[in-house]
Parts: sequence; C-alpha cells; structure tokens
Amino acid sequence: MPTRWAFGLFISIVSQLALAEPDGAVLFTRHCAACHGLNGMGGVGVPLALPGLQATVDDDYLRLSIRHGRPGRVMPAFTQLTDQEVAALVKQVRSFNKSSSGFPAVKPPHGNAIHGAKLFASHCAACHGAHGEGSHGTGVTFSRPRDLPILAPALNNPGFLAAASDSMIKTTLLHGREGTPMLSFVKQGLSESDVDDVVAYVRSFAQPSQTTLPADTAHEPPILLRTSKYSVAETTERVKDVMTRYNLRIIRSVPFNQGMVETKDENPEQRIIDGCDFGFLNKALAVDPRVGLFLPCRVTIAQREDKVIIMTINPKRLSYIFNNAELNELCEEMSKLYNDLLDEAVQ
Ligand code: HEC
Ligand code: HEC
Repeated sequence: MPTRWAFGLFISIVSQLALAEPDGAVLFTRHCAACHGLNGMGGVGVPLALPGLQATVDDDYLRLSIRHGRPGRVMPAFTQLTDQEVAALVKQVRSFNKSSSGFPAVKPPHGNAIHGAKLFASHCAACHGAHGEGSHGTGVTFSRPRDLPILAPALNNPGFLAAASDSMIKTTLLHGREGTPMLSFVKQGLSESDVDDVVAYVRSFAQPSQTTLPADTAHEPPILLRTSKYSVAETTERVKDVMTRYNLRIIRSVPFNQGMVETKDENPEQRIIDGCDFGFLNKALAVDPRVGLFLPCRVTIAQREDKVIIMTINPKRLSYIFNNAELNELCEEMSKLYNDLLDEAVQ
C-alpha cells in the first residue's frame, strides 16, 4: 500500500536524522569529563553542574566558552567541533541541573571603571589576582590550598571576556555562586552602583595588553641535542657531575634498555640519567600535574657511529600542548637549565 510504504520511508528518514544528531553525553564524556567530572561536579575544571552557575549564565556563555576556551588557563578551545556538536554539549551541561531557573534579569550596568579598580583591589584581588589573572594551579585537590575548594577563574582572560556579558558578570556579583567561595557582594555590603563599577573594571581587562596569551612555541625543536667529544662513559660522568652542581639529585644512571632486555644484552653505548630537583618538582606539580609527563629530568647519551650525542626533551616545545601560561614559564626555566647543563657537559 503506497501510504504505508511512504510512512515507512518517513519513519526511516526520521530515525536516521535522529541518529545523525550528535549525542551530548558521549561528547561530554569524550571532551570534557576528564576535567569537569562525569556529572559536571568539577575536578581540574570548575564544576558546571552547580545551580548558582546554571542560574547565572545563558546558553551563549556556555557555547562561547566551549568555542574560545580559556587561552593559557588549561581549558582548551574546541574549534574542531561542529555547531551541532557544541549545541549538544550545551544541552548536556544544562541537563546536569534540572532544578534551578535563571536569576531575574538585571539592569544593564554602566559603571565607573576607576572606582571599580579600587573595589576590585580590596574585594576581589585576593582570590582572582591583582589583574584578574585567576588563582594559581589547575584545581586538582593537592595543588590548591584546602580552604579554597574551587579555584578562582581568570577574569582577564580573552576567552572569558568573549563569553561573558556585562549582565552575566553583574548577576554573578549580585548572587555569588552558592556552594563555592564566590560570595554575593550585595551581602558583603556593596551597593548596586558599586557592583556596576566593578563590572566596568572587569570589562576593562579586555585591553589586549592586559591579557597573557601562551607563548607560541610550535617552532621550538622537540629535542635539545649536543655532540660530545668524550666517550659515553666519560660523558656520563660529566653529566652526573654537572647535574649535581645544578642541585639535581641523581635518581639513576643506567643503560637505556635496562629492564627491557636481559642484563647481558644491555647496550653500554646508550645511557639514561634521571635527576630531580624536588623543590622544583613540587612547585611544578602544584602548577600543573601534567608536568609528570616530562619530569624528572632525563638526559640520554648515545654512541652514533663515530660520535657521542647527548640530548634531552625540550620542555618549551612540550608546554604549548597544555594551554597553561603558568606552566609555560616553568618550562622556559627548565629549557634554560637543560641547555646550560648540556653546554657544560660537552665543554
Ligand atoms: C584540560 C581540562 C579541561 C577540559 C578538557 C575542559 N575544560 Fe572547561 N574548564 C577548565 C578549567 C581549568 C576552567 C576554569 C578556567 C579558569 O580557571 O580560568 C574551565 C572553565 C569552563 C567553563 C566556564 C565555567 C564558569 O564557571 O564560568 C565552561 C562553561 C567549561 N569549562 C566547559 C567545558 C566543556 C563543555 C568542555 C568540553 C567540551 C570543557 N570545558 C573541557 C578545564 C577544562
Ligand atoms: C574568596 C575568593 C573569591 C573572592 C573574594 C571573589 N571571588 Fe569571584 N569567584 C571565586 C570562585 C572560586 C569562583 C568560581 C565559582 C564557580 O566555580 O562557579 C568565582 C567566580 C567569579 C566569576 C565568574 C567567572 C566564571 O568563569 O564563571 C566572576 C565574574 C567573579 N568571580 C568576579 C569576582 C569579583 C569582581 C570579585 C570582587 C567583587 C570576586 N569575584 C571576589 C572566588 C572569589
């Protein structure tokens, strides 16, 4: 029967369209859950499920936050997703909270940024940083003070400023974020016009000179390399000597393939030396636990035909993957240390 046939076709097209719609839960698990928690309760990233956040921000804020990320603050920019995928993610983030409706709309703020700057210094800077750069670290439990259950986000960040409207910032200040250290500043004694002034000051961070973008390090070589005029054994001793002088405790100095082959097959022509400055390691872990991927410091020494080469990874090259401006600074420091160390060892 033609109508039955047409109906069947219709159903099949509809179900295919339904299948083609991106699945927000799957996308969230794949792209966001590692940092924001499976149910949006937070982790390295701030909690997205909190009613106070959900009642404050509109879908555009979520969409633009996903698109722009927070350059230099760990939160990636998801430029590769389609508009449909981003919309599905926004829906998924909304699904974490079914109870709260939005806060009432506010009068659009037109404040005085100069007065706002004074209020910011006295009421906000302790948590959000003197220039709105956000608190240190990434938010993992052990890397933040225990009295601050959620890290203060960066407000001078181009990603935040692109996503947040003045009204959203004002609503945040009026109501705070219940369940987080972010308080209602009306309850803290600020008037509505004070709040408007602070909003104007936060908006003034949008001047490009005040924002820190991560350094572009994609042109850096992945490996730092030197040729040594000494034998593998002599070079090993020299590296250990320099490491000790640089305050690196030698953790081990072994053939490169130790543990992967029988002792008799170990290759004496290739060695690795691991050293660690524990003070630096702890500082770096507090900034971003992902430094564990390239610490402790490792120097590799190898005989290549008639030459002895000596190398380390280049932390400056690795750091750009992580989108963390604070980590970039440490990686810069580490690259300098590695370069000096290699230079001295082959002198
Ligand atoms: C590598 C970790 C990481 C990943 C992956 C990540 N985020 Fe984030 N996200 C963060 C951090 C950290 C912040 C806070 C930024 C700051 O401190 O300034 C943040 C902030 C946000 C904010 C702003 C929250 C607020 O309170 O205003 C939203 C919205 C957000 N992320 C959504 C997402 C979504 C959706 C995904 C997946 C598509 C995602 N994030 C993936 C780490 C991450
Ligand atoms: C005691 C620490 C603390 C103080 C003081 C504080 N904040 Fe916050 N603020 C936070 C935390 C933590 C969050 C993140 C809350 C969340 O995860 O929802 C936050 C969130 C925000 C947000 C939303 C940003 C985002 O990415 O969602 C804005 C805007 C903000 N604060 C502005 C201010 C301003 C302006 C002041 C001063 C009037 C101030 N805060 C004072 C800790 C603080």
